[in-house]
Amino acid sequence: MLNFTRAQTCIIACLSLATVLVKAQSAPACARNYTVQPGDFCDKISAEQNVSTFQLATVNSGIIDPACDNLFVGEVLCLGLVGQDCSTVHVVASGDSCNSIAGQANISTADLLTDNPNINAGCTNIDLGEVLCVAPVFNSTTGA
Ligand SMILES: *[C@@H]1O[C@H](CO)[C@@H](O)[C@H](O)[C@H]1NC(C)=O
Ligand SMILES: *[C@@H]1O[C@H](CO)[C@@H](O)[C@H](O)[C@H]1NC(C)=O
Ligand SMILES: *[C@@H]1O[C@H](CO)[C@@H](O)[C@H](O)[C@H]1NC(C)=O
Repeated sequence: MLNFTRAQTCIIACLSLATVLVKAQSAPACARNYTVQPGDFCDKISAEQNVSTFQLATVNSGIIDPACDNLFVGEVLCLGLVGQDCSTVHVVASGDSCNSIAGQANISTADLLTDNPNINAGCTNIDLGEVLCVAPVFNSTTGA
């Protein structure tokens, strides 16, 4: 019959507790859910729900494929994780540049690039209809 000493019991209990804590830390809760509607596509959801194209794709990687052609009506998506949810956005329009978008949002271009890691350094890969996070970086990790 197994007969644990007090120290052994503590080690087992403490390891279990540590595992729970690590799991809780590595998987932040969802801050906002969204149920896919007929006619939705990723940038439409992003624009209507105030979530950047990058954030929607990142939070749902493994669920939404890179081309975003596997959404289905009734599917529940997470729009943002607690503590990492940017909901101040700009939809890229004709004639926009990173400098103009940042200027309109009153943030630096460097903040815009930090907010949207998918934009390249020269800002040559933003697309019409793409949704960008334009929160000041000091706020973007706190959900403001
Ligand atoms: C999001 O949906 C999941 C699964 O249905 C649920 O557990 C969670 O409470 C929901 N979170 C919010 C913020 O609605
Ligand atoms: C998106 O943001 C705009 C501007 O702040 C706001 O008017 C609108 O209600 C927001 N929509 C949602 C779904 O949060
Ligand atoms: C722009 O941001 C600066 C600080 O980053 C702030 O002092 C200023 O009031 C803001 N201007 C507008 C128009 O929001």
